[in-house]
Amino acid sequence: MVLGSGSAGLFFALTVAEHTGLRVLIVTKKERSESNTNYAQGGIASVESDKDSLEAHFHDTIIAGAGLCHEDAVRVLVKEGQERVKDLIDLGARFTKSRSGKLHLGREGGHSANRIVHARDFTGRELERALLHAVQTHPKITILENHFAVELLTDHQRKHGSVPQKDRKDVSDQRLSCYGAYILHEATGRVAICSAAAAVMIATGGAGQVYLHTTNPLIATGDGVAMAFRAGAKIGNMEFIQFHPTTLYVPEANSFLISEAVRGAGGILINRAGERFMKQYDAARMELAPRDIVARAIDAELKRRGDSHVFLDVSHLPARSIRHEFPSIYKRCNELGIDITKEPIPVVPAAHYSCGGVVASLDGTTNIDRLYVAGEASMTGVHGANRLASNSLLESLVWSRRAAMHLIHRLHGKKPSTNKVSLMEWDESGTENAEEWIYISHDRREVQELMWDYAGIVRSNYRLERATRRLKLIRKEIEDYYRRTKVTVPLLELRNIAEVALLIVRSALRRKESRGLHYTTDYPKRDDLHWLRDTIL
Ligand code: FAD
Ligand code: SIN
Repeated sequence: MVLGSGSAGLFFALTVAEHTGLRVLIVTKKERSESNTNYAQGGIASVESDKDSLEAHFHDTIIAGAGLCHEDAVRVLVKEGQERVKDLIDLGARFTKSRSGKLHLGREGGHSANRIVHARDFTGRELERALLHAVQTHPKITILENHFAVELLTDHQRKHGSVPQKDRKDVSDQRLSCYGAYILHEATGRVAICSAAAAVMIATGGAGQVYLHTTNPLIATGDGVAMAFRAGAKIGNMEFIQFHPTTLYVPEANSFLISEAVRGAGGILINRAGERFMKQYDAARMELAPRDIVARAIDAELKRRGDSHVFLDVSHLPARSIRHEFPSIYKRCNELGIDITKEPIPVVPAAHYSCGGVVASLDGTTNIDRLYVAGEASMTGVHGANRLASNSLLESLVWSRRAAMHLIHRLHGKKPSTNKVSLMEWDESGTENAEEWIYISHDRREVQELMWDYAGIVRSNYRLERATRRLKLIRKEIEDYYRRTKVTVPLLELRNIAEVALLIVRSALRRKESRGLHYTTDYPKRDDLHWLRDTIL
């Protein structure tokens, strides 16, 4: 069973179905293409040119990760990247090519070479299209849309008696197994038990919706991380939330990403006084410094000048090439009255990517048997304290494939043993229909505002402690409400958002230094002596 239909979920499902002939069920909470994957613009980092090397990609990833990358994981990532890009091309993904017919390679911050494989500025949409096409035409794969995974089924849900003499605490001391999940069918409000899975793959993506301003679509509520944590999985490095430096600033419009590739193509950042301010913050790399540096520089400029936004300017570049290379960005800005070939684009940073997640081995396994994780919901060790641009789509493909191969070897030609464990049905006795929707939307907004104000680009102990106190209260209210009412998608998402917000704040409070994406005014320096380690909850 696969939870999620982004790049990680779809590629895992395809690999398992291809190699085993087993039936694979993909459960996804909205329409099948709705995912972070679908919105990816820049591309997929992969060493494809003679002027580049695996060693250079490795080195750039390690530098961006500020000392916390797991070197073995990064080696796997860069080594297997080319093969995965080739798999995508074999599946029919159409990437942009140069005149010579070779893949056109873009450039993004932190990369020392051109290595971004892309489909103009809609790489994610093209990836999702190609993967979905292959999945939909595969006879062994079924997709259930508008079905929401509520909780994982582990030994915690064993029926009384099937775990003799063991209460919940005893169970959590033993190594757990995962048997499936409770699934809510949104249209009927019915929660079904899905318990016959040979394995469960968490591919539920990121958690940008924990913050008020984010590049992520509404689905990104950290459900997989929250569920896995409640089930007893290890969660790592949640303090490292990446803020993308440049999202369109038009207060009345929805957030929209202005790809880093725009800076890669020569875009420059200026403040409202017209000053190219990056020279004060990173004179060597300027606009192509790693994201944490650029986002913090913009944040500092906004605070210093009291401005609401800065500008990203490409009006000095040839208009034809802008329209050709960035058709989606050109179109969206034009709809909002900004002609990017003639005027600068107003931009602000926004929450973009969660470097932390469910702790995964090199094979995507977790500390719970039969539970795998891949993609943005995972913490593989690749990104360390800061993800290098365009390494996440690559990571989702590399790890979903490795997880699939692990499962295939585990089954080793055997029919998967049917689950003989007797598990509890979903129990909604004593619950009522939810009446007060206003509580849910209000609490969601409150969590998002708290996180933006107190656990954003610049943090402090005072802010994080304040956030913790408030989040605990909100979480308690949500739990009470959850126990009393029939579950709905907005309530479940709110519950997960609050859970993940607490994981972020708790992790941030533990790390008493500034490193990569985690910057706190109480400990403004990096401290390799004490903190060269992951934060595991
Ligand atoms: P997703 O693609 O987000 O898929 C998650 C899936 O899980 C969705 O189908 C969702 O509906 C489903 N789901 C979630 N919760 C539940 C639940 N409870 N029950 C059932 N289903 C559930 N990375 C790059 O490498 N290069 C880029 O150029 C790039 N650009 C980006 C641009 C934008 C605007 C954004 C938002 C991200 C970008 N990223 C980029 C990051 C990258 O897109 C993601 O990290 C990656 O796509 C994650 O893939 P995934 O399969 O893990 O998750
Ligand atoms: C972008 O296009 O700027 C996003 C790239 C990424 O998040 O890796």
